[in-house]
Amino acid sequence: MLFTQALQALKQEQLNVDIINAVLTATPDELAELYSAAYQARLKIFGKKVFLRGLIEFSNHCSNLCHYCGINAANIEQLRYRLSSDEILECAKIGSQLGYHTLVLQAGEDPIATHRLEDIIISIKEKYPHMAITLSAGMQSYDTYKKWRLAGADRYLMRFETSNRELFAKVRPGTTLDERLQALEWLRDLGYQVGTGHLIGLPRQTNADLAADIMLLYKIRPDMIGIGPFIPHPATPLAAYPHGSIDTTLTELAILRLALPYVLLPATTALGSLQSDAPLRALSYGANVIMPNISPPALRKLYAIYPNKAGSLEDVSATHERILNLINKADLTADFSRGDSLLATYRQTDTQHHAPSESSH
Ligand code: 5AD
Repeated sequence: MLFTQALQALKQEQLNVDIINAVLTATPDELAELYSAAYQARLKIFGKKVFLRGLIEFSNHCSNLCHYCGINAANIEQLRYRLSSDEILECAKIGSQLGYHTLVLQAGEDPIATHRLEDIIISIKEKYPHMAITLSAGMQSYDTYKKWRLAGADRYLMRFETSNRELFAKVRPGTTLDERLQALEWLRDLGYQVGTGHLIGLPRQTNADLAADIMLLYKIRPDMIGIGPFIPHPATPLAAYPHGSIDTTLTELAILRLALPYVLLPATTALGSLQSDAPLRALSYGANVIMPNISPPALRKLYAIYPNKAGSLEDVSATHERILNLINKADLTADFSRGDSLLATYRQTDTQHHAPSESSH
């Protein structure tokens, strides 16, 4: 397929593997056109808004053995920490003082920390009723997700990481893609706004895998999508592999902005950790969310899912300022509202006006 045809289709929110391949092999001039179309799509729906979410990394204990992740259970060199309930509430207070209206509570799969989560959600909602709570605490039972939802959690982030079943089973020993996709369905059924996504450039990931990842996102139509390049961590089985491509990540962000225009799309930390100007480009091509870290500065470097994570050595106000400057530099505007998903409302206008039916893809 020619690039011009692919771009035309994308502008009508269509997506298939041919379109993806035409875009992934585009020339620099063609990519410039793609990026400008993606920027226009974000302006049309979100204007210049970039939503801020305060990220609290509340435990780096993890019972999983994911080959890509630096805090996997087998990494015995990693110092471990777990924030107390009071410490988490202190972070929430800081987030609230900065004016954020979403807190993202993220941790490894740590049974002790997750056991306390219900009470923490209740306390945060009591103190800050206008705060949206996003959880990112991995695979849990349906009943646990339900308990957290009833306690007041609004959103859940869990990437499927790769849509290739064999690769998934290899890099996430003891877990399956199907279980993960099932859990995402449970979350949706329970009324969470759901975010998912994948890693770009995992070892042995082919271009066909990448296209399948993008197609899976298109099929799921999540409220939020988190994608980022794989970054090798020295104390993991994948230490010797190269990192994923920044350009491919940016191109995929633009594809997603066009194919799923309503979606909340963060400029993820992994991008900025590899190249300092990548987040600026992400914002210019369609990203509309940033998650400033509000975890205790002294502990940040311990949440080392990959090395040299951007912001690991900053304190809370330095991170906040850096991100406000970045948004300014992109000629966009920091938005401090909850920034809830537009999926439900977009769907209505979608079917009324222009979107092709799902069965036509
Ligand atoms: N490089 C990039 N991203 C990583 N993640 C975990 N380990 C790495 C790594 N080495 C991502 C996963 C996970 C998210 C919280 O961090 O995609 O879902």
